[in-house]
Amino acid sequence: MEISRLSQRFLLGDGESRLLGVFGDPIAHSLSPTIHNLSLAYLDLNFRYLPFHVRPKDLQEALFGFRALGGVGFNATVPHKEPLLPLMNHLDPAAEKIGAVNTVVIEAGGDLVGYNTDAYGFITALREKHTDDLAGKTILVLGAGGACRAVLVALLDGGAEHILLANRTLSRAENLAALFTRYYPHADIRPIPLLFSDLPLAKVDMVVNTTSLGLKGAEAFPLAVEALQEQTLIYDIVYSANKTPLQKLALAHNLPFVDGLGMLIHQAARAFQIWTGHLMPVDEVKKELFGAGSS
Ligand code: ATR
Repeated sequence: MEISRLSQRFLLGDGESRLLGVFGDPIAHSLSPTIHNLSLAYLDLNFRYLPFHVRPKDLQEALFGFRALGGVGFNATVPHKEPLLPLMNHLDPAAEKIGAVNTVVIEAGGDLVGYNTDAYGFITALREKHTDDLAGKTILVLGAGGACRAVLVALLDGGAEHILLANRTLSRAENLAALFTRYYPHADIRPIPLLFSDLPLAKVDMVVNTTSLGLKGAEAFPLAVEALQEQTLIYDIVYSANKTPLQKLALAHNLPFVDGLGMLIHQAARAFQIWTGHLMPVDEVKKELFGAGSS
């Protein structure tokens, strides 16, 4: 196979190439290397982005080794987002509130700056298709785990005022509501039990799923969508190549729907901009990854 000069230069790199990457365990499934390397090649930027399989016990050593090799930044995915927090020299406000780091910048002097771009990804993907003002809306958020914290930051920074936080383990929703009421004293965040037969669905304008229900694709999603108002927006932050059970429900009932793809791309785009100073060519990346109809 003949390799063009452009791809040869891109494949081989040179002494000037700057190193980026993603740490995770597992890591093989991650779309991040593809998203970033497509963008770097498209803009002809001399960075390389590699996946690193880092076990939890090796996180600190991997971080310091990456810095010693001259790495300029990396993403973190499961299970490293929370353990990275105390290893940072500085944190951006979103990482602090979310309690997790998904993007690290290694500064010229070696300081480590932790960012979390998930909230930006969530709100940017929402606004791409639905520009509605969030103030005055009642938003039902399902789940109270790690992913939920990024959604809360996105919604509350985005102007939301009324949030119903429904979780199977009520105490987790109560703790999160108390914490976020301290961060956002003007917001009304109400913890409720996640009993699917007893949710106040007629009163909500938007439903966001942050639980891992339906993650494996097979189970049905037990939300009584017929009880929702006609234009209630459903946002499932899970991204799956196949339609998630909640997505199928929304489609079957003609409800506006946002999937996790936009969030995935836009959280990456923000990290890309932080590291390179360039805007990610988001539409080109979507087309390349998911075909012409995806932007
Ligand atoms: P993540 O970081 O992806 O949010 P997590 O912190 O483990 O992962 O949180 C998973 C969320 O999905 C939690 O809100 C969890 O509810 P509990 O706090 O009660 O565990 C929710 N979840 C997982 N499986 C669920 C199920 N079968 N039914 C309802 N909620 C579920």
